[in-house]
Amino acid sequence: MRTFAVVGHLAPTGNGFPLDDLPGSAGRMDILCRCVNAALSISHGIRRDAEIHLILLGPPSPPKDLLLQGSVVRSLSPDERSTAALIRKALALPTGESFRESSPGILVRRGGLAGLIADGGYAVLSEDGRDMRTFPDLPGAFLLSDHLDFTAEEEEILPGLPRISVGPRVLHADHAITVLQNELDRREAGWS
Ligand SMILES: C[S@@+](CC[C@H](N)C(=O)[O-])C[C@H]1O[C@@H](n2cnc3c(N)ncnc32)[C@H](O)[C@@H]1O
Repeated sequence: MRTFAVVGHLAPTGNGFPLDDLPGSAGRMDILCRCVNAALSISHGIRRDAEIHLILLGPPSPPKDLLLQGSVVRSLSPDERSTAALIRKALALPTGESFRESSPGILVRRGGLAGLIADGGYAVLSEDGRDMRTFPDLPGAFLLSDHLDFTAEEEEILPGLPRISVGPRVLHADHAITVLQNELDRREAGWS
């Protein structure tokens, strides 16, 4: 299983955001939708061995942990608007500590970064990290930030986690996921 988690520092935690303004009043929901695409989509299909958590920290009721599971998700299209519509539907559900499913493979619960990291197994994807190609084995779970750096408070939760870089340039979060997926695909196929 490949697990990704992306912190959306401004991303809404209610279902009132407009699908027509994902980069603006929807708190950069466009970035998170592109990350979902990079984590779960392949040409004409879904990566059934992948899942992605979106840690939403914007108003009105942060934090929320929205999970999209490639193994069971249905009707996920690669375009940002339809992904945002699925996210919006999930955010209409009342949340508690346990996940609730809004549609197959799309679940939501109250919860933030600390709880997720406590599950174990995470590495931080970071432009300042160690070259992924120097790791004989890569972990199975990867944490990224959106367009903003991790806050000082978030960084306090992360010490001790491996920090992995996918290359020498600072990339958009979804591009970093794509490059990492490619590395994992190559290893799985015995190409390297
Ligand atoms: C646009 S970057 C975040 C902002 C960035 N710190 C900056 O200075 O502009 C989004 C996220 O993508 C991931 N990322 C970007 N470049 C990366 C790289 N070369 N290796 C690993 N992860 C990377 C990190 O998780 C980062 O937080």
